[in-house]
This record gives sequence, C-alpha cells and structure tokens, in this order.
Amino acid sequence: MKHFLLLFLISAFVCSPLKAQRADYNVIPLPKEVKADTEQVFTLRKGMGVAFDATNPEIYRNVQFLCEWVKEMTGINLMLTPNDKKAAIRMSLDFPTKKGEKEDELTEQQQEAYIINVDKKGVTIQARKPVGLFRAAQTLRKALPVVKEKVEQVELPFAKIYDEPRFEYRGVLLDCGRHFFTVEFIKKFIDVMALHGSNQLHWHLTEDQGWRFEVKAYPGLAPKGSVRAETVIGPGNSGIYDGTPYGGYYTQEDCREVVRYAAERYINVVPEIDLPGHMQSALHVFPHLGCTGGPYPVRTYWGVSREVLCGGNPETLTFLKTVLGELCDIFPSKYIHIGGDECPKDRWKKCEKCQAKIKELGLKDDGKHSVENQLQSYINREVEAFIKERGRDIIGWDEILEGGLSGGSIIMSWRGVKGGIAAARQGHRVIMSPNVYSYIDHPQLKDYLGRQPRTTDSYIVSASKVYSFEPLIPDSLTQEQQRLILGPQVNLWTEHIAYPQHAFYQLLPRLGASCEVQWCLPEQKDFENFKSRLPRLKAIYDLIGVNYCRQLE
Ligand code: ACM
Ligand code: ZN
Repeated sequence: MKHFLLLFLISAFVCSPLKAQRADYNVIPLPKEVKADTEQVFTLRKGMGVAFDATNPEIYRNVQFLCEWVKEMTGINLMLTPNDKKAAIRMSLDFPTKKGEKEDELTEQQQEAYIINVDKKGVTIQARKPVGLFRAAQTLRKALPVVKEKVEQVELPFAKIYDEPRFEYRGVLLDCGRHFFTVEFIKKFIDVMALHGSNQLHWHLTEDQGWRFEVKAYPGLAPKGSVRAETVIGPGNSGIYDGTPYGGYYTQEDCREVVRYAAERYINVVPEIDLPGHMQSALHVFPHLGCTGGPYPVRTYWGVSREVLCGGNPETLTFLKTVLGELCDIFPSKYIHIGGDECPKDRWKKCEKCQAKIKELGLKDDGKHSVENQLQSYINREVEAFIKERGRDIIGWDEILEGGLSGGSIIMSWRGVKGGIAAARQGHRVIMSPNVYSYIDHPQLKDYLGRQPRTTDSYIVSASKVYSFEPLIPDSLTQEQQRLILGPQVNLWTEHIAYPQHAFYQLLPRLGASCEVQWCLPEQKDFENFKSRLPRLKAIYDLIGVNYCRQLE
C-alpha cells in the first residue's frame, strides 16, 4: 500500500508539469472581459504559423514580439506565414466596429482596445490600431505558462477576451537626477513598463544633484552640471559622505534612442526639466542665473534647496527657452513637464532683480497668491507659451497652482489629491500621483528595517495601498470634473536608489498593483484576487531577470 502511495505521489509530481502547460488568461492587469472555457482547448504547437499583413511594418514588429515572447515562455518556435489564412494565430486590424463608430471620435483608450478569440481554429487577435495588437500580445504572453523544461505544445483554453485601458495616461516616473541610470537599464525599465501596459515614462532629467540632459547650446552644462563631488551616505542626511565624485548624463543621441525604443513599445517619454527650483546643478555651471551669484556646488545631499533660478534676471528665461527648445526637438511627447515643485522663495524675497521684476509686472498680493508665487507663475506662463508654440502642453507639479494658472496646463497632483481636486474644479486636466499611494521610493513592507534596503522612510507605501487608489475621487469631483483626470502615475525617486536591482525591487510588484489602477474598473479590483494572479507575473520577472520584492503587504 505504501508503495502505491509513493508511486502515486511520484507520478503526480512527474505529471504536474503537464498540467502547468495550460494558459490562464487571468493576467495582470485583468482584462475587462475574459470568457474562458474550462474544457475545450486549442493546442499550440511548435512550427505553427502566424498570419498578418506583411506590408505593415508595425504589425510585423508586433508579430515578432509575440513570437519572441512565446519562445521565451514555452520554447515553442512559431513560423511567420503572412498569407496563410488558416494559420494558427491570425493578427489583424479587422476590429469589429460598432455601428456609427467614427474613427476620429474614438477615445485614446478605445484606440488601444483589442480582442483575442481562441477556438478550434486557433487564436484570432484583432485591434483597431497596432498598439492594440501589442497590448493583446502582452496579454497572451502573460497568459502562457513559464515552462522550465521547454515544451513542444501548450494548451490554450477556448476564450473570448476583450480589453481596453481605463485611463489614457498610465505613468511611471524614473528619477535619473539623483542617480544616473544607463540607457541599457532604461530600456529594461521600458520593457517592464510595457509588460504592465503602462504608456508614459516620465523621465526626471535634472536635479539639484545632477544635470543629465545634454544641451548643445551650452556645451559645458551637462559635463559639469552632472557631476557632484560626493554623496551623502544613507537615508536622511547623515552628514557622512562617501568622498567619491558621482556623475553621468545622456547625450542627445542617447535620448533619441530611448524615445525610439520606447515608441516601439507604445510608451511615450515625457521629459521633465524641473524649474525654477531643483536647479542647483545648472547654477553650478551658470552662477549668474542665481539671485546671490553663488558659488553653487552641485548638491551632495538630499532635501529642498533654497538656491533656485533668479526670477528677475531676463537671462533665466533665455536659458530656459534654449534648454526647452532642444528638449522639444528631441522628445516628440505632446506633454512637456516643467516641474515647478519645491521652489523656496527665500532668495527671491531678498533679491533686487526679483523684486524689481515683481514691480515691473505690477504683481500684488491678493491674499491667495503671494507676489513671489505670482512671479513663478509669470515664468510658467512664459515657458508655457514657448512650449505651446511647439504644439505641446505643459505638465507641472501641483505647486504651480499656487500663483494662479493659465488654461492649458496639466497638474500633476503629488501632495495628496487636493491639488488635483482643486485643479479639476478649475477646469484643468490632472494626473494623479499622490505621494501616499504613489511614491514607490518608500518602503513597501511594514517593519521594513532589516527586511529590505533602506529608502526614503517617512511612511510605508505597501502594494495593497498602491492597489487601493481610486484616481477619480468620486466623493469630491463631479462626473464632468472626473473626465479631466487623465490617469494615475507611480513615482520612483532615487535619492537612495543607486542600482538596477534596487530600482526593480522598489518598482515590483508595486507596478503590478498600479497597473490595475491604470487599467481596471473599480468593480474589477480585488486585492485578494490580484494576489492569486501574481505568481505568474513573478515567474515572468524571474524569467526576464528583474528583481522584485518577494513579500506582499
Ligand atoms: C516632488 O515629489 N517633489 C514632486
Ligand atoms: Zn533673483
């Protein structure tokens, strides 16, 4: 009897990989509709074909992605058979349009929609646009089992899947100012964003601690402004320094390469030049642009610097427009982020040039907006007009509301949601990135000391906290105001994150949680259910070699 039991156990163990070779469409983010059969399956085998319109290079690229991912997950090699109508997988833009549907009235989300059908003939993937084919390919990829001993066939349950994202803007911020990350790393970061269906990489390029964007008009700016003499050690400002110069910047060629790579994965790169605060690295190179004249070292520790661009010096605007002009030439993004956060006014209050400018502009304290905040608004408006001429909109952190705001600006709400609520009530578009739900530089585990690397640790942002965020704030905003919320974003600040493994540890699996905020309807969301779907996503993290936090709270 004992032997039988043993045999049974052994055979169950040996056979279990077979069971694991079945796809499961309950992926992250969970598609809007998944109707899957529990009994009937289509068996995908090595050598089967993929049909597509070979005259469309964008579709061809997405087919290549799909084949690459199927091979990576299962070992199955598919064949490209463009004209074979009977191929096992058929990818096309034959999307079943609704009656009266007009292409130019579709929302951005509808343009990303896709359908996957699995039946006895195989897999049909349909989308309105190539981007939808890419999203579908990612869903199929995530549905596949990660097969360690690569197999020759995988079972796909018959299914009908429909999906489109909830929000048009689905962002992730990467701070390359505090620490420099290589282009190779950023490409991996983009791959990981694409795996989760995020579509906006907010690239924070300049900081007090380092200027990372090459500007041809100012050849010394990036080489000198990117290097700090040393860096404070540990979280907070310990007062202890590592004594090692630190630097790195992106050439314009690098930036173009990042834009190109991201665009192939349907990710827009939103570049940020943070102004007029967070500019100490630029002041290091151009001290005449500060109120005191300097000298200004590239900052070697964290926190908010009082040293900001002089608001009264006309050369400040010349400098900003030159930098932003080159930025617009390189980044095709319809959004350009101009920062605007944490700009202390200590220097401006005492600076003759700033006060003369306030007088010249006739600014008066109206009880709501100080004259110095209005001076910042004047700079914002000048910069906004310049960027508008280039056909783009500005995004600013919620502080830009404080001096009064002009029409087309988009507010990124970070100090909680109140800035976003105020902005939407004034008719501005909003991106929701409230720190307590979205700042993934913070620890993700309670009792984190000894359990995870030290980071900014004033509060915990657990995966369940990230997951619980509702960007539309329905208790505070009317439906019309809610339509101004473009979407959510999580932010990876890097004061205490210097290495790729640590960056991915902070990002994952919280981006998994965030992508359900980005894609799923509130009624679809359930953290326990999310947890049950996470192991498959983690298997992909392992497969593609990115680090992640093993625990989930
Ligand atoms: C910010 O966290 N200072 C936008
Ligand atoms: Zn000044």
